Amino acid sequence: MIVGIVRESSVGEKRVAGTPQSVAQLVKLGYEVLVEQGAGIAAAFPDADYAIAGARCVSQEEAWAADLVLKINPPIDSEIAALKEGATLIAMIAAPRSPELLEALAARKLTVLAMDSVPRISRAQSLDVISSMANIGGYRAVVEAAHEFGSFFTGQVTAAGKVPPAKVFVSGTGVAGLAAIGTAHSLGAIVRATDIRAETAEQVQSMGAQFVAVEAASQQSSDGYAKEASEDYAAAAARMYAEQAKDVDIIITTAQIPGRPAPRLLTEEMVASMKPGSVIVDMAAASGGNVAGSVPDQIVTTPNGVKIIGYTDLPGRLPTQASTLFSNNVLNLMKLITPDKDGLVKLDLEDVVQRGMLVTQAGEVTWPPPAVSVSAAPAAPAAPAAAATPGAADAAAKEKKPRDPRVNYVLLGLCAAVLLLLFFFSPSGLLGHFMVFMLSIVVGFYVIGNVSHSLHTPLMSVTNAISGIIVVGCLLGLTLLDQGTSLFAGANLPLLILSVIGILLASINIFGGFLVTQRMLKMFRRG
Ligand code: NAI
Repeated sequence: MIVGIVRESSVGEKRVAGTPQSVAQLVKLGYEVLVEQGAGIAAAFPDADYAIAGARCVSQEEAWAADLVLKINPPIDSEIAALKEGATLIAMIAAPRSPELLEALAARKLTVLAMDSVPRISRAQSLDVISSMANIGGYRAVVEAAHEFGSFFTGQVTAAGKVPPAKVFVSGTGVAGLAAIGTAHSLGAIVRATDIRAETAEQVQSMGAQFVAVEAASQQSSDGYAKEASEDYAAAAARMYAEQAKDVDIIITTAQIPGRPAPRLLTEEMVASMKPGSVIVDMAAASGGNVAGSVPDQIVTTPNGVKIIGYTDLPGRLPTQASTLFSNNVLNLMKLITPDKDGLVKLDLEDVVQRGMLVTQAGEVTWPPPAVSVSAAPAAPAAPAAAATPGAADAAAKEKKPRDPRVNYVLLGLCAAVLLLLFFFSPSGLLGHFMVFMLSIVVGFYVIGNVSHSLHTPLMSVTNAISGIIVVGCLLGLTLLDQGTSLFAGANLPLLILSVIGILLASINIFGGFLVTQRMLKMFRRG
């Protein structure tokens, strides 16, 4: 089959659906690849590189007449006319908002796979262009904000004076929001973030930001995505936004509910309460806007000197990176639909991923696809089902019954008796060691419990050092044994057994730790 990679026609669009790297992989899959002349120039991919990768650079007509056409944006009428009847098209389609486009594609009997309709399940993540583009968009939103902001993001103490760090507030902590948090944090800003789904707090903290909770119930639908805010939530959120707006320098909004207009989060009064020179990036400007006064694709400066950026092409502002990720997503789809690597597309409509992306086929509109349960869905609560069976409720109640306090007293008494026995009958020195051991457990519990998750790997190396000390201690124990007459003489046997067990367990920790660290390092290596 012949694959055509065409030049994007939308004004200002610099991305391209295939890079020389992805072309080389398509050739390996058995396809003949045609690239429209100059298609990748704006993304820094010259025709010569495509030719080296095994493609032929051809005229616009020839590229559009291929059996399978790859592009980024939905096709316009003249492009649909340029496609061969019955050909396959892979592009973003915006199917929910484009019923007429779907009819026009079906009328040409095209098989169309929409890159923006990938079901959000773990297995399909490698094809998910929405996430790839949102990630770039979140990064670029911070870069645009920094460009318009008149001060540093990071705090500094210079000879000329002290500069406080900028305060950044991110609303909506999906893919774009988390990318924005990571970028602002790495530039040195103090970052805070909120989301209608309170369970994102841990992710926010792991990216280095503080989660600002709204004093109302978390709003999540049964599929794991956000749902529209209740009145209670909206009122509590409005108070929180009003407070943050007065305090922070930069606000980045990414809040979105699937299939609905963007929720309005910042009112005109909140924007008016911000400090002059503050910057807002409304990433949802294209779908109605999270911020009062934002205009798609423009920067608006309010009377109090706040800049509201409403760019809708943030990923396209990093054309090389965006083209690379988009073409990787497309390549993963091509691998999926070319199971025999023979240059022939074989669609498997039993596969929820392929079926989810198919929007037209053989003259029919096949969108929307049957519902898929998404991986973001929370686990169903098990308790009500258990209570439904007769007697189960009683069993559960019995199970939950708090322990009789007398049992606790007996256990406490036993522990005290063991300690007393140890105190009176143990060899001199053992009690001291025992106390040190108990205290180190308490200190260790509090110290390690307060170490942030991101530092657990270096912590593992420290436990390796402790294991090393244990091995040295056990070896010393064995040397003591050696000085006795017989290694297996009665008194020495417990020491022998303890030393051998100690060496074994500590060695497992040391070598296991090295193996795990090696595996983790491999994940960061190229190729
Ligand atoms: P996502 O669906 O992964 O994340 C949206 C987040 O907003 C979710 O975590 C959701 O819980 C949260 N949310 C919903 N309602 C909220 C509310 N009332 N208050 C607080 N949080 C709320 O979406 P993704 O992929 O991160 O994209 C975010 C937005 O950015 C979308 O509107 C998308 O269209 C837009 N976008 C814009 C670009 C641009 O160039 N301007 C580029 C890429 C994405």
